Amino acid sequence: MDKEAVEKPTINRAKFATSLGVLAATLGSAVGLGNIWKFPYLAGSNGGAAFLLVYIVCMLLIGIPVMVTELTLGRVARSNAIATMQKLAPKGQPWWLIGAAGVLSAFLIMAFYSEVAAWVFAYIIKAIQGGILSTDPEVTKSAFNGLVTDPTQSLIWQWIDLAIVGFIILLGVNKGIEGATKKLMPILLILLIVVGIRSITLPGAGEGLAFLFQPDFGKLTAASFLIAMGLAFFKLSVGMGTMITYGSYFRDDQDIPGTAFRVAFSDLAVSLLAGIAIFPAVFAFGYEPNAGPSLLFLTIPSVFASMPLGNVFMVIFFILTFIASIGAQISLVEVPVAFLEEKFHLSRKVASISTVVAIAVFGALAALSNSLLADVKLLGMTFFDLFDYTTSNILLPLGGLFIAIFISWVWGKKKITAALTNDGKLANTWIVNVLYGTLLVVTPILVTIVLLNGLKIIQ
Ligand code: TRP
Repeated sequence: MDKEAVEKPTINRAKFATSLGVLAATLGSAVGLGNIWKFPYLAGSNGGAAFLLVYIVCMLLIGIPVMVTELTLGRVARSNAIATMQKLAPKGQPWWLIGAAGVLSAFLIMAFYSEVAAWVFAYIIKAIQGGILSTDPEVTKSAFNGLVTDPTQSLIWQWIDLAIVGFIILLGVNKGIEGATKKLMPILLILLIVVGIRSITLPGAGEGLAFLFQPDFGKLTAASFLIAMGLAFFKLSVGMGTMITYGSYFRDDQDIPGTAFRVAFSDLAVSLLAGIAIFPAVFAFGYEPNAGPSLLFLTIPSVFASMPLGNVFMVIFFILTFIASIGAQISLVEVPVAFLEEKFHLSRKVASISTVVAIAVFGALAALSNSLLADVKLLGMTFFDLFDYTTSNILLPLGGLFIAIFISWVWGKKKITAALTNDGKLANTWIVNVLYGTLLVVTPILVTIVLLNGLKIIQ
Protein backbone atom coordinates (compact mmCIF):
# COMPACT_ATOMS: atom_id res chain seq x y z
CA MET A 1 0.00 0.00 0.00
CA ASP A 2 2.65 2.45 1.07
CA LYS A 3 4.86 1.35 -1.80
CA GLU A 4 2.12 2.06 -4.28
CA ALA A 5 1.55 5.47 -2.79
CA VAL A 6 5.21 6.26 -3.22
CA GLU A 7 5.52 5.07 -6.78
CA LYS A 8 2.28 6.12 -8.35
CA PRO A 9 3.13 9.74 -9.24
CA THR A 10 5.96 8.59 -11.50
CA ILE A 11 3.65 7.96 -14.41
CA ASN A 12 2.36 11.37 -15.40
CA ARG A 13 4.91 13.50 -13.67
CA ALA A 14 5.59 17.02 -14.84
CA LYS A 15 8.92 17.74 -16.50
CA PHE A 16 10.75 20.90 -17.44
CA ALA A 17 10.00 21.19 -21.14
CA THR A 18 13.23 22.52 -22.64
CA SER A 19 16.90 22.46 -21.86
CA LEU A 20 16.88 26.23 -21.49
CA GLY A 21 13.97 25.89 -19.08
CA VAL A 22 15.95 23.43 -16.96
CA LEU A 23 18.87 25.82 -16.80
CA ALA A 24 16.63 28.77 -15.99
CA ALA A 25 14.76 26.98 -13.23
CA THR A 26 17.90 25.50 -11.65
CA LEU A 27 19.79 28.77 -11.94
CA GLY A 28 16.65 30.51 -10.72
CA SER A 29 16.83 28.41 -7.57
CA ALA A 30 20.52 29.08 -7.03
CA VAL A 31 20.48 32.81 -7.74
CA GLY A 32 18.64 34.77 -5.12
CA LEU A 33 19.10 36.75 -1.96
CA GLY A 34 22.10 34.51 -1.33
CA ASN A 35 24.04 36.41 -3.99
CA ILE A 36 22.76 39.91 -3.49
CA TRP A 37 22.15 40.04 0.25
CA LYS A 38 24.00 37.17 1.98
CA PHE A 39 27.25 36.90 0.02
CA PRO A 40 28.22 40.58 0.41
CA TYR A 41 27.49 40.77 4.10
CA LEU A 42 29.22 37.45 4.89
CA ALA A 43 32.26 38.36 2.79
CA GLY A 44 32.20 41.76 4.52
CA SER A 45 32.25 40.25 8.02
CA ASN A 46 34.75 37.50 7.24
CA GLY A 47 37.60 39.32 5.61
CA GLY A 48 36.58 39.75 1.97
CA ALA A 49 38.89 38.20 -0.62
CA ALA A 50 40.28 35.37 1.53
CA PHE A 51 36.72 34.35 2.32
CA LEU A 52 35.87 34.48 -1.38
CA LEU A 53 38.69 32.03 -2.14
CA VAL A 54 37.62 29.56 0.54
CA TYR A 55 34.09 29.87 -0.76
CA ILE A 56 35.20 28.99 -4.31
CA VAL A 57 37.10 25.93 -3.06
CA CYS A 58 33.98 24.79 -1.17
CA MET A 59 31.88 25.34 -4.27
CA LEU A 60 34.19 23.13 -6.37
CA LEU A 61 34.86 20.32 -3.89
CA ILE A 62 31.53 20.23 -2.07
CA GLY A 63 28.77 22.30 -3.68
CA ILE A 64 29.03 21.08 -7.28
CA PRO A 65 29.50 17.37 -6.45
CA VAL A 66 26.53 17.45 -4.07
CA MET A 67 24.43 19.29 -6.65
CA VAL A 68 25.24 16.63 -9.26
CA THR A 69 24.34 13.94 -6.72
CA GLU A 70 20.98 15.43 -5.84
CA LEU A 71 19.97 16.07 -9.45
CA THR A 72 20.94 12.51 -10.35
CA LEU A 73 19.07 10.81 -7.54
CA GLY A 74 15.97 12.90 -8.23
CA ARG A 75 16.00 12.14 -11.94
CA VAL A 76 16.50 8.41 -11.43
CA ALA A 77 13.75 8.11 -8.83
CA ARG A 78 11.44 10.78 -10.30
CA SER A 79 10.05 11.54 -6.87
CA ASN A 80 10.03 14.09 -4.09
CA ALA A 81 13.02 14.27 -1.74
CA ILE A 82 11.79 11.76 0.84
CA ALA A 83 10.39 9.18 -1.60
CA THR A 84 13.54 9.41 -3.74
CA MET A 85 15.68 8.27 -0.84
CA GLN A 86 13.15 5.57 0.07
CA LYS A 87 13.17 4.20 -3.45
CA LEU A 88 16.92 4.20 -3.96
CA ALA A 89 18.13 3.05 -0.54
CA PRO A 90 18.54 -0.61 0.33
CA LYS A 91 15.52 -1.96 2.22
CA GLY A 92 15.30 -1.05 5.87
CA GLN A 93 17.99 1.66 5.85
CA PRO A 94 16.81 5.06 7.03
CA TRP A 95 18.32 7.25 4.27
CA TRP A 96 14.91 8.88 3.80
CA LEU A 97 15.75 10.88 6.92
CA ILE A 98 17.87 13.09 4.65
CA GLY A 99 14.70 13.96 2.78
CA ALA A 100 12.76 14.49 5.98
CA ALA A 101 15.47 16.82 7.33
CA GLY A 102 15.23 18.62 4.00
CA VAL A 103 11.52 19.29 4.40
CA LEU A 104 12.24 20.69 7.87
CA SER A 105 15.06 22.86 6.49
CA ALA A 106 12.73 24.23 3.84
CA PHE A 107 10.52 25.66 6.59
CA LEU A 108 13.43 27.01 8.60
CA ILE A 109 15.02 28.69 5.58
CA MET A 110 11.75 30.08 4.27
CA ALA A 111 11.00 31.59 7.69
CA PHE A 112 13.89 34.06 7.48
CA TYR A 113 14.28 34.15 3.69
CA SER A 114 10.71 35.33 3.19
CA GLU A 115 11.39 38.10 5.69
CA VAL A 116 14.43 39.36 3.79
CA ALA A 117 12.36 39.20 0.60
CA ALA A 118 9.78 41.20 2.54
CA TRP A 119 12.35 43.94 3.23
CA VAL A 120 13.24 43.99 -0.45
CA PHE A 121 9.58 44.34 -1.35
CA ALA A 122 9.14 47.13 1.18
CA TYR A 123 12.17 48.89 -0.35
CA ILE A 124 10.51 48.82 -3.77
CA ILE A 125 7.59 50.76 -2.33
CA LYS A 126 9.81 53.07 -0.27
CA ALA A 127 11.93 53.76 -3.34
CA ILE A 128 8.84 54.67 -5.36
CA GLN A 129 7.74 57.04 -2.60
CA GLY A 130 11.25 58.54 -2.40
CA GLY A 131 13.07 59.32 0.81
CA ILE A 132 15.52 56.42 1.22
CA LEU A 133 17.85 57.66 -1.50
CA SER A 134 20.79 59.13 0.38
CA THR A 135 24.53 58.88 0.70
CA ASP A 136 24.30 59.78 4.38
CA PRO A 137 24.76 56.65 6.53
CA GLU A 138 22.53 58.13 9.25
CA VAL A 139 19.59 58.49 6.86
CA THR A 140 19.89 55.04 5.29
CA LYS A 141 20.40 53.37 8.68
CA SER A 142 17.35 54.93 10.23
CA ALA A 143 15.22 54.03 7.18
CA PHE A 144 16.24 50.39 7.52
CA ASN A 145 15.84 50.26 11.30
CA GLY A 146 12.45 51.92 11.06
CA LEU A 147 11.29 49.10 8.82
CA VAL A 148 12.66 46.07 10.66
CA THR A 149 11.69 47.22 14.14
CA ASP A 150 8.07 47.74 13.14
CA PRO A 151 6.21 44.46 13.81
CA THR A 152 3.19 45.28 11.65
CA GLN A 153 5.24 46.12 8.58
CA SER A 154 7.50 43.11 9.12
CA LEU A 155 4.52 40.75 9.12
CA ILE A 156 2.50 42.31 6.33
CA TRP A 157 5.35 42.48 3.83
CA GLN A 158 6.19 38.87 4.62
CA TRP A 159 2.60 37.81 3.96
CA ILE A 160 2.57 39.69 0.67
CA ASP A 161 5.77 37.92 -0.35
CA LEU A 162 4.38 34.52 0.62
CA ALA A 163 1.14 35.16 -1.25
CA ILE A 164 3.11 35.86 -4.44
CA VAL A 165 5.30 32.77 -3.97
CA GLY A 166 2.24 30.63 -3.24
CA PHE A 167 0.51 31.86 -6.37
CA ILE A 168 3.41 30.94 -8.65
CA ILE A 169 3.89 27.54 -7.02
CA LEU A 170 0.21 26.89 -7.48
CA LEU A 171 0.51 27.41 -11.23
CA GLY A 172 2.75 24.36 -11.36
CA VAL A 173 6.14 23.35 -12.66
CA ASN A 174 5.95 24.53 -16.25
CA LYS A 175 3.86 27.65 -16.29
CA GLY A 176 4.91 28.76 -12.82
CA ILE A 177 8.52 27.91 -12.18
CA GLU A 178 9.89 27.54 -15.68
CA GLY A 179 7.87 30.37 -17.22
CA ALA A 180 8.72 32.97 -14.60
CA THR A 181 12.43 32.29 -14.27
CA LYS A 182 13.21 32.13 -17.98
CA LYS A 183 12.00 35.66 -18.63
CA LEU A 184 13.40 37.41 -15.61
CA MET A 185 16.94 36.24 -15.01
CA PRO A 186 18.57 38.06 -17.96
CA ILE A 187 17.17 41.45 -16.92
CA LEU A 188 18.65 41.12 -13.45
CA LEU A 189 22.11 40.49 -14.87
CA ILE A 190 22.04 43.60 -17.01
CA LEU A 191 20.99 45.77 -14.11
CA LEU A 192 23.67 44.39 -11.82
CA ILE A 193 26.24 45.29 -14.44
CA VAL A 194 24.89 48.86 -14.57
CA VAL A 195 25.05 49.25 -10.78
CA GLY A 196 28.48 47.63 -10.73
CA ILE A 197 29.82 50.12 -13.26
CA ARG A 198 28.45 53.05 -11.26
CA SER A 199 29.89 51.68 -8.06
CA ILE A 200 33.43 51.15 -9.36
CA THR A 201 33.50 54.66 -10.79
CA LEU A 202 32.76 56.22 -7.39
CA PRO A 203 35.62 58.19 -5.86
CA GLY A 204 37.46 55.87 -3.45
CA ALA A 205 36.10 52.72 -5.04
CA GLY A 206 39.54 51.08 -5.27
CA GLU A 207 39.57 50.22 -1.60
CA GLY A 208 36.35 48.26 -2.01
CA LEU A 209 37.70 46.29 -4.93
CA ALA A 210 40.89 45.53 -3.01
CA PHE A 211 38.77 44.31 -0.11
CA LEU A 212 36.97 41.89 -2.41
CA PHE A 213 39.92 40.72 -4.50
CA GLN A 214 43.14 41.01 -2.45
CA PRO A 215 43.24 38.14 0.01
CA ASP A 216 44.53 38.58 3.53
CA PHE A 217 44.56 35.08 4.98
CA GLY A 218 45.25 36.36 8.47
CA LYS A 219 41.59 37.26 8.67
CA LEU A 220 40.35 33.68 8.37
CA THR A 221 39.23 31.74 11.45
CA ALA A 222 37.74 28.25 11.88
CA ALA A 223 34.37 29.94 12.04
CA SER A 224 34.89 31.67 8.70
CA PHE A 225 35.68 28.34 7.01
CA LEU A 226 32.38 26.99 8.31
CA ILE A 227 30.53 30.08 7.13
CA ALA A 228 32.10 29.87 3.67
CA MET A 229 31.10 26.24 3.39
CA GLY A 230 27.60 26.99 4.64
CA LEU A 231 27.33 29.70 2.02
CA ALA A 232 28.38 27.25 -0.71
CA PHE A 233 25.51 24.95 0.31
CA PHE A 234 23.05 27.80 0.60
CA LYS A 235 24.09 29.40 -2.66
CA LEU A 236 23.77 26.25 -4.75
CA SER A 237 20.52 25.24 -3.01
CA VAL A 238 21.96 21.89 -1.94
CA GLY A 239 21.89 19.76 1.18
CA MET A 240 18.14 19.63 1.68
CA GLY A 241 16.47 18.07 -1.35
CA THR A 242 15.71 21.10 -3.51
CA MET A 243 17.92 19.73 -6.26
CA ILE A 244 16.51 16.23 -5.77
CA THR A 245 13.06 17.66 -6.36
CA TYR A 246 14.17 19.71 -9.39
CA GLY A 247 16.18 16.76 -10.73
CA SER A 248 12.96 14.76 -10.71
CA TYR A 249 11.63 17.19 -13.36
CA PHE A 250 14.76 16.90 -15.56
CA ARG A 251 14.52 15.21 -18.94
CA ASP A 252 16.42 11.98 -19.46
CA ASP A 253 18.70 13.53 -22.07
CA GLN A 254 19.76 16.47 -19.88
CA ASP A 255 23.52 16.64 -19.19
CA ILE A 256 23.56 16.76 -15.38
CA PRO A 257 27.24 17.52 -14.69
CA GLY A 258 27.23 20.13 -17.48
CA THR A 259 24.14 21.78 -16.02
CA ALA A 260 25.61 21.81 -12.51
CA PHE A 261 28.86 23.44 -13.66
CA ARG A 262 27.04 26.07 -15.70
CA VAL A 263 24.70 26.89 -12.84
CA ALA A 264 27.50 27.10 -10.27
CA PHE A 265 29.70 29.39 -12.35
CA SER A 266 26.87 31.65 -13.48
CA ASP A 267 25.81 31.88 -9.86
CA LEU A 268 29.34 32.82 -8.83
CA ALA A 269 29.36 35.51 -11.50
CA VAL A 270 26.18 37.02 -10.04
CA SER A 271 27.67 37.01 -6.52
CA LEU A 272 30.82 38.71 -7.78
CA LEU A 273 28.76 41.35 -9.59
CA ALA A 274 26.83 41.98 -6.38
CA GLY A 275 30.11 42.32 -4.49
CA ILE A 276 31.42 44.73 -7.11
CA ALA A 277 28.24 46.77 -6.78
CA ILE A 278 28.37 46.91 -3.00
CA PHE A 279 31.97 47.04 -1.67
CA PRO A 280 33.19 50.13 -3.50
CA ALA A 281 30.17 51.94 -2.09
CA VAL A 282 30.91 50.67 1.41
CA PHE A 283 34.29 52.37 1.36
CA ALA A 284 33.29 55.41 -0.69
CA PHE A 285 30.49 56.39 1.70
CA GLY A 286 32.03 55.25 4.99
CA TYR A 287 29.95 52.21 5.87
CA GLU A 288 31.37 49.28 7.82
CA PRO A 289 31.88 46.15 5.68
CA ASN A 290 30.81 44.07 8.68
CA ALA A 291 27.42 45.76 9.07
CA GLY A 292 25.74 42.33 8.85
CA PRO A 293 22.35 41.59 7.28
CA SER A 294 21.61 45.30 6.79
CA LEU A 295 24.58 45.90 4.44
CA LEU A 296 22.66 45.66 1.15
CA PHE A 297 19.88 47.92 2.38
CA LEU A 298 22.28 50.63 3.47
CA THR A 299 24.75 50.71 0.63
CA ILE A 300 22.54 50.26 -2.42
CA PRO A 301 20.50 53.44 -1.80
CA SER A 302 23.80 55.32 -1.51
CA VAL A 303 25.09 54.03 -4.85
CA PHE A 304 21.90 55.07 -6.57
CA ALA A 305 21.78 58.41 -4.79
CA SER A 306 25.03 59.30 -6.52
CA MET A 307 23.73 58.48 -9.98
CA PRO A 308 21.52 60.34 -12.47
CA LEU A 309 17.96 58.94 -12.49
CA GLY A 310 19.04 57.06 -9.36
CA ASN A 311 15.58 56.63 -7.95
CA VAL A 312 14.21 55.05 -11.12
CA PHE A 313 17.13 52.63 -11.27
CA MET A 314 16.79 51.82 -7.60
CA VAL A 315 13.13 50.89 -8.04
CA ILE A 316 14.10 48.56 -10.88
CA PHE A 317 16.98 47.14 -8.85
CA PHE A 318 14.82 46.15 -5.92
CA ILE A 319 12.10 44.79 -8.22
CA LEU A 320 14.66 42.52 -9.87
CA THR A 321 16.17 41.46 -6.56
CA PHE A 322 12.68 40.56 -5.44
CA ILE A 323 12.17 38.56 -8.61
CA ALA A 324 15.47 36.74 -8.04
CA SER A 325 14.27 35.86 -4.56
CA ILE A 326 11.06 34.42 -6.01
CA GLY A 327 12.92 31.83 -8.12
CA ALA A 328 14.77 30.69 -5.01
CA GLN A 329 11.68 30.69 -2.81
CA ILE A 330 9.58 28.61 -5.17
CA SER A 331 12.36 26.03 -5.24
CA LEU A 332 12.38 25.91 -1.45
CA VAL A 333 8.60 25.67 -1.18
CA GLU A 334 8.47 23.04 -3.94
CA VAL A 335 10.20 20.54 -1.60
CA PRO A 336 7.34 20.20 0.92
CA VAL A 337 4.71 20.79 -1.78
CA ALA A 338 5.94 17.91 -3.97
CA PHE A 339 6.14 15.70 -0.89
CA LEU A 340 2.59 16.51 0.29
CA GLU A 341 1.16 16.11 -3.20
CA GLU A 342 2.69 12.70 -3.75
CA LYS A 343 2.56 11.23 -0.28
CA PHE A 344 -0.97 12.25 0.65
CA HIS A 345 -2.40 12.61 -2.88
CA LEU A 346 -3.30 16.23 -2.25
CA SER A 347 -4.12 18.51 -5.15
CA ARG A 348 -1.42 21.01 -6.08
CA LYS A 349 -3.70 23.75 -4.80
CA VAL A 350 -4.22 22.28 -1.34
CA ALA A 351 -0.56 21.31 -0.98
CA SER A 352 0.64 24.81 -1.99
CA ILE A 353 -1.77 26.75 0.14
CA SER A 354 -1.24 24.68 3.27
CA THR A 355 2.55 24.90 2.92
CA VAL A 356 2.53 28.66 2.45
CA VAL A 357 0.15 29.21 5.36
CA ALA A 358 2.33 27.05 7.60
CA ILE A 359 5.38 29.10 6.59
CA ALA A 360 3.53 32.34 7.30
CA VAL A 361 2.66 31.21 10.82
CA PHE A 362 6.09 29.83 11.61
CA GLY A 363 7.84 32.67 9.77
CA ALA A 364 6.42 35.20 12.23
CA LEU A 365 9.16 34.07 14.62
CA ALA A 366 11.76 35.38 12.17
CA ALA A 367 9.71 38.40 11.07
CA LEU A 368 9.39 39.67 14.62
CA SER A 369 13.03 39.04 15.55
CA ASN A 370 13.93 42.72 15.36
CA SER A 371 10.83 43.95 17.18
CA LEU A 372 8.54 42.05 19.57
CA LEU A 373 10.84 39.03 19.84
CA ALA A 374 14.15 40.93 19.79
CA ASP A 375 14.94 39.85 23.35
CA VAL A 376 14.04 36.19 22.90
CA LYS A 377 17.33 34.44 22.30
CA LEU A 378 18.35 30.80 21.94
CA LEU A 379 22.10 30.06 22.00
CA GLY A 380 22.56 33.83 22.01
CA MET A 381 20.70 34.30 18.71
CA THR A 382 17.32 35.70 17.74
CA PHE A 383 15.03 33.31 15.84
CA PHE A 384 16.02 34.99 12.57
CA ASP A 385 19.73 34.46 13.21
CA LEU A 386 19.18 30.99 14.66
CA PHE A 387 17.27 29.73 11.60
CA ASP A 388 19.81 31.31 9.28
CA TYR A 389 22.83 29.98 11.19
CA THR A 390 21.63 26.44 11.89
CA THR A 391 20.39 25.73 8.37
CA SER A 392 23.49 26.92 6.50
CA ASN A 393 26.07 25.83 9.01
CA ILE A 394 24.61 22.59 10.39
CA LEU A 395 21.62 21.12 8.58
CA LEU A 396 22.71 21.69 4.96
CA PRO A 397 26.28 20.42 5.54
CA LEU A 398 24.94 17.33 7.33
CA GLY A 399 22.47 16.70 4.51
CA GLY A 400 25.26 17.13 1.94
CA LEU A 401 27.60 14.86 3.90
CA PHE A 402 25.13 11.99 4.05
CA ILE A 403 24.00 12.38 0.48
CA ALA A 404 27.61 12.28 -0.76
CA ILE A 405 28.23 9.14 1.31
CA PHE A 406 25.01 7.61 0.03
CA ILE A 407 25.69 8.03 -3.67
CA SER A 408 29.35 7.00 -3.62
CA TRP A 409 29.44 4.29 -0.95
CA VAL A 410 25.91 2.88 -1.08
CA TRP A 411 24.59 3.48 -4.58
CA GLY A 412 27.94 2.86 -6.20
CA LYS A 413 30.04 3.72 -9.21
CA LYS A 414 28.25 1.61 -11.81
CA LYS A 415 24.90 3.28 -11.30
CA ILE A 416 26.50 6.72 -11.02
CA THR A 417 28.31 6.27 -14.32
CA ALA A 418 25.20 5.04 -16.09
CA ALA A 419 23.13 7.96 -14.75
CA LEU A 420 25.68 10.70 -15.40
CA THR A 421 26.62 9.59 -18.91
CA ASN A 422 22.93 9.13 -19.77
CA ASP A 423 23.61 5.42 -20.32
CA GLY A 424 26.78 6.04 -22.28
CA LYS A 425 25.38 8.71 -24.61
CA LEU A 426 27.53 11.51 -23.20
CA ALA A 427 31.30 11.44 -23.61
CA ASN A 428 32.08 12.69 -20.11
CA THR A 429 33.60 9.64 -18.43
CA TRP A 430 36.59 11.50 -16.98
CA ILE A 431 34.32 14.12 -15.42
CA VAL A 432 32.23 11.35 -13.93
CA ASN A 433 35.35 9.68 -12.55
CA VAL A 434 36.55 12.91 -10.95
CA LEU A 435 33.14 13.57 -9.46
CA TYR A 436 32.91 10.02 -8.13
CA GLY A 437 36.34 10.21 -6.49
CA THR A 438 35.51 13.57 -4.96
CA LEU A 439 32.21 12.32 -3.55
CA LEU A 440 33.80 9.15 -2.22
CA VAL A 441 36.63 10.79 -0.29
CA VAL A 442 37.14 14.53 -0.56
CA THR A 443 33.63 15.85 0.05
CA PRO A 444 32.83 13.72 3.14
CA ILE A 445 36.20 14.37 4.78
CA LEU A 446 36.18 18.08 4.05
CA VAL A 447 32.63 18.62 5.26
CA THR A 448 33.33 16.66 8.44
CA ILE A 449 36.49 18.58 9.27
CA VAL A 450 35.05 22.02 8.57
CA LEU A 451 31.90 21.18 10.48
CA LEU A 452 33.63 19.81 13.58
CA ASN A 453 36.24 22.53 13.56
CA GLY A 454 33.80 25.37 12.91
CA LEU A 455 31.45 24.22 15.65
CA LYS A 456 34.49 23.96 17.97
CA ILE A 457 33.95 20.22 18.52
CA ILE A 458 37.58 19.61 17.56
CA GLN A 459 40.25 22.29 17.42
N1 TRP B 1 20.19 29.48 -3.38
C1 TRP B 1 19.23 30.45 -2.98
C2 TRP B 1 19.91 31.79 -2.77
O1 TRP B 1 21.06 31.90 -2.85
C3 TRP B 1 18.46 30.06 -1.76
C4 TRP B 1 17.90 28.69 -1.84
C5 TRP B 1 16.97 28.23 -2.69
C6 TRP B 1 18.29 27.60 -1.05
N2 TRP B 1 16.75 26.91 -2.47
C7 TRP B 1 17.55 26.50 -1.49
C8 TRP B 1 19.20 27.48 -0.04
C9 TRP B 1 17.75 25.26 -0.90
C10 TRP B 1 19.40 26.24 0.55
C11 TRP B 1 18.69 25.15 0.10
O2 TRP B 1 19.29 32.76 -2.52
